[in-house]
Amino acid sequence: MAPDGASQAGVDISIVVPCYNEAANVRPLVAALQAALAGRRWEVVFVDDHSPDGTIDVVRALAREDARVRGMCRIGRRGLSSAVIEGVLSSSAPVVAVMDGDLQHDESRLPALLDAVLSGECDLAVGSRHVEGGSNEGLANAWRHALSDGGIWLAQRVLPVKLTDPMSGFFAVRQEVFERIAPNLSGTGFKILLDLVLSSDAPLRVREVACGFRPRLAGESKLDVLVMLQFGALLADKFSRGFLPLRFVAFGLVGLVGVLANLVVMQLASLFGASFGVAQGLGTVVAMVLNFILDNNFTYRDRRLKGVRCVQGLALFMLVCSVGAIANVGIARMLYDQNHAVNEASIAGAVLAAVWNYAMSSTIVWRP
Ligand code: GDD
Ligand code: MN
Repeated sequence: MAPDGASQAGVDISIVVPCYNEAANVRPLVAALQAALAGRRWEVVFVDDHSPDGTIDVVRALAREDARVRGMCRIGRRGLSSAVIEGVLSSSAPVVAVMDGDLQHDESRLPALLDAVLSGECDLAVGSRHVEGGSNEGLANAWRHALSDGGIWLAQRVLPVKLTDPMSGFFAVRQEVFERIAPNLSGTGFKILLDLVLSSDAPLRVREVACGFRPRLAGESKLDVLVMLQFGALLADKFSRGFLPLRFVAFGLVGLVGVLANLVVMQLASLFGASFGVAQGLGTVVAMVLNFILDNNFTYRDRRLKGVRCVQGLALFMLVCSVGAIANVGIARMLYDQNHAVNEASIAGAVLAAVWNYAMSSTIVWRP
């Protein structure tokens, strides 16, 4: 006999699960969904970024047993938020829920989240750890608690609607509402819910549903310092209403680190008796390599180059930056000759070079 609901055409609900190295959690999660959503017409979409632990193989094996299981595998890409966006947009169900693939979200709260949206009561229902009945025992330690609380406080400064847990990754949303907002989403980092709420033209009708957050049993968290920086960049992007694109801010910060490194290396080289020319050359090469490493791991993390492509990318990046540096000096010289204003001339040269480097990096070094 077909599993309940599986023989009927179409689904009412999609559960979108971003996952990276969650092979051990996929099977228990599907079993949990089968129990929690019994009697409903649902599907689950796992969006995996080609995890080295073979998560997608486990998903595919399950999909052969149960047609309600679907898998998407993205190659050469990384990111929780962008994975969720693609999973939701791949769905034809009118209501979509998003949850983690590591069993930390309590699937028994799914019906309450889904029904809040299905009933037309709201556009977005959010699982909250900070309303009566919710709990947050799964956060690994005091540091994660402090981080979470700080993030919530910060996010609440910019939120157009009241949310006690804007950092939640457990929510249900009307698919057409998500699709309408999708072109405005930043799509970087971990905080897709926050992105969604901040990117909507009109305030969303939101409900909160109490939920717990269980400790992780298998695998490990992917939250790291870079993800936290991406959170700051997301807020900056939304604060400035897209005027400061996320990547450009990151690229600029990395550039500043490069300038500092350049100065330090030049000083050190001079100290060891290098001529000005040698010191400058050394400083420039170190700055470029450092910038490349930082941009590859942060600014363009979602398009990170590996292996041979990383070496090719570095060569191309150094070429691009050299052209930028020559243009910088040339423009500054030209403006200085015209107006004799040293500061204005050098700032204009530097800005032009930064925009050039950024445009080339975004299009040819780290191709979309
Ligand atoms: N496809 C994909 N790509 N999935 C990812 C990536 C990625 O780059 N990074 C993380 N994931 C998946 C994980 O495999 C997991 O299923 C889910 O996203 C959450 O990631 P965790 O690494 O377990 O995050 P966490 O437990 O630290 O944080 C979660 O809890 C927060 C609440 O404190 C996240 O769900 C947050 O969204 C949530 O707000
Ligand atoms: Mn987790």
